[in-house]
Amino acid sequence: MVNKNSTEGFFPSAGNGNFEIIAKTFRGLEDVLADEIKGIGGRSVRKGTRVVMFRGNLETLYRVNFQARTALRVLKPFASFTARNEDELYREAGRTDWPAVIPSGNTFAIDGTLASRWFNHSKYIALRVKDAIVDQFRDRTGKRPDVDTDDPDIRINLHISDDRCNLSLDSSGESLHKRGYRTGTGPAPINEVLAAGLVLLSGWDRKSNFIDPMCGSGTIPIEAAMIAWNIPPGVYRKKFAFEKWPGFDRELFENIYNEDRAEPEVPPVIIGSDYSAASLGIARDNARNAFLGRKTIFRISAFEDIEPPAGGGVIITNPPYGERIRQENAKAFHMVIGDTLKKRFAGYEAWILSSNLEALRHVGLRPERRIVLFNGPLECRFVKYSLYEGSKKQK
Ligand SMILES: C[S@@+](CC[C@H](N)C(=O)[O-])C[C@H]1O[C@@H](n2cnc3c(N)ncnc32)[C@H](O)[C@@H]1O
Repeated sequence: MVNKNSTEGFFPSAGNGNFEIIAKTFRGLEDVLADEIKGIGGRSVRKGTRVVMFRGNLETLYRVNFQARTALRVLKPFASFTARNEDELYREAGRTDWPAVIPSGNTFAIDGTLASRWFNHSKYIALRVKDAIVDQFRDRTGKRPDVDTDDPDIRINLHISDDRCNLSLDSSGESLHKRGYRTGTGPAPINEVLAAGLVLLSGWDRKSNFIDPMCGSGTIPIEAAMIAWNIPPGVYRKKFAFEKWPGFDRELFENIYNEDRAEPEVPPVIIGSDYSAASLGIARDNARNAFLGRKTIFRISAFEDIEPPAGGGVIITNPPYGERIRQENAKAFHMVIGDTLKKRFAGYEAWILSSNLEALRHVGLRPERRIVLFNGPLECRFVKYSLYEGSKKQK
């Protein structure tokens, strides 16, 4: 039993066994994240929509935050109940022993997400739970904890799925896609978690040539280099929310942080190119921030003029989307993409991420795989083309 004014037993410590953990991701990356979590040591791994649930101990929780490339946020659930209106939500949230969750003198913040016919506004549900917390504190202690939305000591996550309400401790803090290396962006940067997911989904062997011929701010080549060199995405981050939890095990986390990591025996050639000098400047800065300046090559080139290195490899790119270029131009450009791939990239596997499903048809090569993914709210296809010597363009 948790003592009313004690955090003992509520926050996990190294002595605890396994507990339930939830990692959030983008739709379409659940399989990749589940594989990552199994590799990190998660047990009883189950997949949902945009989430992977599993069991693990404190080390697993730290590791998934630090190492999983396709996790956006890692939660430790602590209360679950049903509610169909704000009053029920307030009442049920009030049953949690909040002084055990928010140690005295700590600040807190609460984020709400929902997919429900009973509730409409995620901000409002979060506000109702905040009221339940503050009122309980005031009744019990005469004091109320302060809310700090920027840098709280304790971050709480409320998720409502229909009438099922789940309260969790947020162990990550800022979304994990904010690795910390990207100081600049081009006009339409891809999310880092999605970029890593594309590289993992492609099955790139981490040895052969890797090219993003429309690399913008360089996110895909940078994530590819991190994968090839076994660099955990968390090394660039300044902080994780769990570092402020009572009982934070600094030694355990530092051991994970400082672990030896195998470097590739044969370093792969990783190239990003773009026709925009401004974007390439940003890409080079970002690669340097990630200490990958010497492990990546950024070159100015129009896609149509690229001379790829011999020996084949993998191309992953997200061309400009239809929202930014007119549909007619998009179709014509996708035809150019298909022609260029066929003419110049024999021996390569090409993967294209696009939300412009109509324009994608104009690539004119036979797709070998099609994966549905979401780039923010945009539904996309991640399509694979294998470019054999003498690949035929379809009519
Ligand atoms: C959607 S953005 C790529 C964003 C990138 N993945 C990132 O994370 O920043 C598309 C990029 O394609 C580039 N581009 C468009 N047409 C091109 C062409 N014909 N040759 C080379 N680059 C091109 C643009 O300059 C832009 O940087």
